[in-house]
Amino acid sequence: MGNRLIGYGSYLPEKIFTNADFEKILDTTDEWIVTRTGMKVRHFAHKDETVVDMAAIAAKRAIENAKISADDIDMIIVASISTELDFPSIATQVQARLGMTKNQPAFDVRAACTGYIYAMHCARAFFATAIHRRILIIGAEKMSNVIDWTDRSTAVLFGDGAGALIFEHSTSSNTGIIDTAVFADGTGFDMLHGTTDRKITMNGPETYKKAVTLMPEAALHITRLAGITSDDIDWIIPHQANLRIIQSGAIRLGFPTEKIIVTVDKHGNTSSASGVLALADSLDNGRIKHGQLILYPAFGSGLTWGAALVRV
Ligand code: ACO
Repeated sequence: MGNRLIGYGSYLPEKIFTNADFEKILDTTDEWIVTRTGMKVRHFAHKDETVVDMAAIAAKRAIENAKISADDIDMIIVASISTELDFPSIATQVQARLGMTKNQPAFDVRAACTGYIYAMHCARAFFATAIHRRILIIGAEKMSNVIDWTDRSTAVLFGDGAGALIFEHSTSSNTGIIDTAVFADGTGFDMLHGTTDRKITMNGPETYKKAVTLMPEAALHITRLAGITSDDIDWIIPHQANLRIIQSGAIRLGFPTEKIIVTVDKHGNTSSASGVLALADSLDNGRIKHGQLILYPAFGSGLTWGAALVRV
């Protein structure tokens, strides 16, 4: 039992925040941010715009793109770490916003920047066991809710946005979410976590070292599992944490940089939304074409990491 991608959608808040805007509020420079991270701009939501608002818009766009109705979906999985309310889940609130009427199950996964890979992992298991036929996966973050605006070493790194993907049951095992592998090491807590007042705290250099080893490891693990080589892969969409991490991972994998999707320059690190937004952006601009195979490595707080193989 397999699955296939039938629709996608995304949402980026209107407000664009430049590095020059950070220069006005923090002791930083455009030059530092660009050379250390590759980030130029990111989008920030309006103060009244919630994670649920963004997730619901991305979901509606994906439903339109799939040419189905909301009730055709039979499960919602949302990946996020920056929601305003601890409960209920973002997914149940999105279900209501979409006007779904069949009590379709809906839940959130919290795996930080690996969240969208964890969501795909869950979806793959439900398809493999034929429990659900159409699953909506959303990655949505309002990182501006959890940024410590006084900490220049983390504030400049993040952005807001949401992306949504709809996968449908298929008899082909070579389309949609083909394979996933996810990992966690809770002893890495101190490297990167939220504080009790819900702000990000991070040991940047230690997180960096872990990211440049664990993302390529996850990528290699999943290609070996699937019995493929880098020649079989059309694109890599790495978690968009930092351009230097992305480039270093590509070098370690011996993967040509032209095949790597980079959106960190315009989105910043949108955590659980990053890979979904990057795919939506690349399908919109025609870089990624239907039928192509994508390798998706990710890494985040937890520590969590993993990879997915997706044929779009
Ligand atoms: N502007 C100017 N200077 C700065 C800034 C800033 N915004 N931030 C830090 N600095 C300074 C530091 O204070 C330090 O100064 P010092 O040498 O006088 O002490 C200097 O720049 C170097 O700081 P480092 O932290 O060593 O800088 P580094 O080159 O490591 O880059 C960065 C920092 C970009 C954060 C990098 O470590 C990184 O990308 N880490 C990984 C982040 C990541 O992958 N997160 C993943 C997941 S996020 C999630 O799961 C939610």
